[in-house]
Amino acid sequence: MKKLIAGNWKMNGTLESGVGLASSINAAVNENSALLDACDFLICPPFVFLQSAKAAIGPAVALGGQDCSPFDNGAYTGDISAPMLKDMGAGYVILGHSERRQYYKETDALIAEKAKKAHDAGLIAIVCVGETEGERDTGQEQEIVGSQLLRSLPDTTTAENTVIAYEPVWAIGTGKTASADDIRDMHAFIREKLDNNGDFRILYGGSVKPGNAAEIFAIPNVDGALIGGASLKTEDFLGIAQAA
Ligand code: PGA
Repeated sequence: MKKLIAGNWKMNGTLESGVGLASSINAAVNENSALLDACDFLICPPFVFLQSAKAAIGPAVALGGQDCSPFDNGAYTGDISAPMLKDMGAGYVILGHSERRQYYKETDALIAEKAKKAHDAGLIAIVCVGETEGERDTGQEQEIVGSQLLRSLPDTTTAENTVIAYEPVWAIGTGKTASADDIRDMHAFIREKLDNNGDFRILYGGSVKPGNAAEIFAIPNVDGALIGGASLKTEDFLGIAQAA
């Protein structure tokens, strides 16, 4: 399976910098056929830059949203629906990121509703799971991640329309990464929870950088990375892909 190199831009940049980043990633990816053989590429810009970013990339780089509404259309001020993302040319949507769970109080049940809408719209849902530092310190990480998987994945979930991203909350944006053993154990656990279905892509996320990517990608059941900070620089984003 090719590694999925997914950039989560979060709420960063301007229209100009976003378009510049999208086009420089697109150019760099297309210059290197070995990278394209080994990896699939995805960028997830803020909603308002999606259309311009789409115009700046070719078929080698996929486009994704960072969230979607649990509704299809109607009077839901501020929401962006899964069919709208599809209409903008997105193929993916990140759901249940820990920042949304933490700052917007998103629950597993809400995330499952959103994932169902994403599936219905023909998008691939990247469903994020992960424990907090306190939960890991008290040995609850598998219990937490197991319960998030059980409750955040709707019954429409298949290996084709869903990617799981394991992102320990304490490793996001902190420069801390989980140890290779921790990642190996958790990815094996997630694989098992998905009924040993080897077809599901399971990404690791949390301070992935060019310097630690090779070690992370060598761990069994790591099928790519969800990258925040390092996805904002073409050199770092491509450096991570090179490690794959
Ligand atoms: P980070 O973010 O790479 O900046 O730690 C990862 C993520 O939040 O998806």
